[in-house]
Amino acid sequence: MHFTFKSSYWTDRYLENHAPWDLNHISRPLKEYIDHLQDKELKILVPGAGPGHEVSYLYRKGFKNVYYLDFSQKAADEFAIKEKDFPVDQILSDDFFNHSGKYDLILEQTFFCAFEPSEAARRKYVQKMYDLIHPGGILAGVWWSFLLNPDQENPPYGGSREEYERLFSEKFEIQKIDECYNSEPERMGKEYFCVFQKR
Ligand SMILES: C[S@@+](CC[C@H](N)C(=O)[O-])C[C@H]1O[C@@H](n2cnc3c(N)ncnc32)[C@H](O)[C@@H]1O
Repeated sequence: MHFTFKSSYWTDRYLENHAPWDLNHISRPLKEYIDHLQDKELKILVPGAGPGHEVSYLYRKGFKNVYYLDFSQKAADEFAIKEKDFPVDQILSDDFFNHSGKYDLILEQTFFCAFEPSEAARRKYVQKMYDLIHPGGILAGVWWSFLLNPDQENPPYGGSREEYERLFSEKFEIQKIDECYNSEPERMGKEYFCVFQKR
C-alpha cells in the first residue's frame, strides 16, 4: 500500500529534524549541470525545493530569475530565514499541482520520488511538468534508479529506466537517462541523470 503525502507529513519531518534527503549542500550532479548553463536570464523553477540548496546556488551564480517552490510552509520559512537576500516573491509556498507559470527550465532533486508510485500519480507529475515548461524548455535532474520495493510504505520511491522512458517519451524528447557518474558517495549507483525536452 502506498500513500499520498500531505504537506503536514513533510513539515513534521522538518520539525523533527528528520530530513534524510537533505544533503546540506547542492547535490554534485545538479551543481555540475548548473555550472554548464550559460544563459543567466533563464526562468527556472525548483519544485519541492525543501532546504533549497539548488535555489541558493543558482541565485548566487547570477540566475536571478529562479523560483523556490514547496508546499511545506516550514520549509519555505526556513529558506526565507536562511536566504535573506533572496526575493520573497520568488519563494512560493504552494502545491506544485496548483501552481501555474511557465519556465524555461525545471530542476528535479528528490521530488518525483516523493509521490506515490502509481501510474496515475506519476502521469500527473509528468503532465504538470509539461504544463509548466515552455515549448522546447527542459526538465533536468536526478531520478532514483533503484527499483520500487512493493512493501515500501514511505518515500523515496524509485523507478526504472524503462518506466521513465515510457512516462516521459509521450510529451518530452528524452535527451538523456544516464547512470549518474557524479552522485554523492552515498547515492552512487542509485540515480540517473536525466534531461527531458518538452516537445
Ligand atoms: C524528499 S523532499 C526533497 C527536498 C529537496 N528537493 C532536497 O532534495 O533536499 C520532498 C519535498 O517536496 C515537497 N513536496 C512534496 N509534495 C509537494 C507538492 N505537491 N507540492 C509542493 N511541494 C511538495 C515536500 O514538502 C519536501 O520538501
